[in-house]
Amino acid sequence: MAGIDYSQKIPNNVDLKSDRRLQRALEAWQPEYIDWWRSVGPTDFNENEIYLRTAVSVEKDGWAHFDYVKMPDYRWGIFLTPQEPGRTIGFGDHFGKEAWDQVPGEHRNSLRRLIVTQADTEPASVEQQRLLGHTAPSLYDMRNLFQVNVEEGRHLWAMVYLLQAYFGRDGREEADELLQRRSGNADHPRILGTFNEPCEDWLAFFCFTMFTDRDGKFQLLALAESAFTPLARSCQFMLTEEAHHMFVGQTGVGRVIQRTCEVMNEHPDSCPSEHGAIPLELIQRYINFWVSSSNDLYGGEVSSNAANFFRSGLKGRAWEQKREDHLALEGHYTMDIFENGGFTSTEVPLRNAMNEVLRDDYIADNQKGIVYWNKVTAKAGIDFQFRLPDRRFRRRVGMFAGHPFDLDGQLVTQEQWDAKAPEWLPSTEDKDFVKSLMQPVREQGKYASWIAPPAKGLNGQPVEFEYVKL
Ligand SMILES: [Fe+2]
Ligand SMILES: [Fe+2]
Repeated sequence: MAGIDYSQKIPNNVDLKSDRRLQRALEAWQPEYIDWWRSVGPTDFNENEIYLRTAVSVEKDGWAHFDYVKMPDYRWGIFLTPQEPGRTIGFGDHFGKEAWDQVPGEHRNSLRRLIVTQADTEPASVEQQRLLGHTAPSLYDMRNLFQVNVEEGRHLWAMVYLLQAYFGRDGREEADELLQRRSGNADHPRILGTFNEPCEDWLAFFCFTMFTDRDGKFQLLALAESAFTPLARSCQFMLTEEAHHMFVGQTGVGRVIQRTCEVMNEHPDSCPSEHGAIPLELIQRYINFWVSSSNDLYGGEVSSNAANFFRSGLKGRAWEQKREDHLALEGHYTMDIFENGGFTSTEVPLRNAMNEVLRDDYIADNQKGIVYWNKVTAKAGIDFQFRLPDRRFRRRVGMFAGHPFDLDGQLVTQEQWDAKAPEWLPSTEDKDFVKSLMQPVREQGKYASWIAPPAKGLNGQPVEFEYVKL
């Protein structure tokens, strides 16, 4: 089961050839996917050989094979982690009962919605990042961008398989629509806000992979607990691939910071921007933007939908097994509810606070990245601390939406907020400056002025390896 059949048009470890109908449906979707890739995926570089990893097994070790591949020839496939014998439901009202191999009729709509919402983020991010190849600061970074892109494409395949295999005609229609919505398109946008935000420079890309792909990690962790076993197994394998995306973000921002610190030490009396590096305050503003946008992806603080998903066993908490109470019936989450301009400390039934529970885990994980970046500045002897904005800052979703909270989560007046906004969020000048630095560097082993080389290359290769054959 763990082995992947690469002799098929669509590589898979789900014995696709035994289900002719499904195989035909997916093979009919495949050329449409390739059309989508060619029309709104990475512009150019589709004829270049890129040093990419491809999944060859779903075991923990040695699952990836590295070789030169042209992106449109990437073997996008359907890979589920191995079936766990006698799997039971890990949480909610059906805790301990047999998990589901099929979709129960009463949960069909909710499950489809959850899968479509996850699926939609995958092609969206490829669309958001489509122009970045042209301004890559090195071949190493260009390769990482394209690795992330092909794997987001594969995640779309993972979700489309579920839709086509388990949701009949509705599922096939959803699969088609996933190729029709467009990131940032006013008439036919992607489903979630962050996935319609422009991601036009590499600092934005690194913040996106750090903070928005990390939302992906937590959504996948919650869905990997689902009672619907095919969804759980799909998400488990997606998590394996996802780890690299967050690595790209965390180390990417870290390398930008490192370079700025080097420049600050070389030229202590001038602004790093005069020497082709990105000021630390500007990096903080990008962090504030992408963190606040990504915080919205968890939804409202108090949510009956989230309670229903948990009760029914559709979507759990991250690492449910590590918790003691899998029913979450008695527990409460103490929350300061913001209403009519004031706060009331409220005991929210735990099931209704599941979005907030997941957001807590996400924020704690983000904080580790901040600690890592502050080690970079400390090591360089630069007195600057990065921070996360409070979860109330610049929210568009939930009870804080549209209210002026500062970076510490204090309510301020709209006038105060407007006056401070240029210190908190990237201005047009900030973005223009970052864009002015986005000059491509395509010589092996060379890196742009605004970013330090990585500590080491990929897959044991040297930093100066030919990661992309141009
Ligand atoms: Fe993904
Ligand atoms: Fe990702």
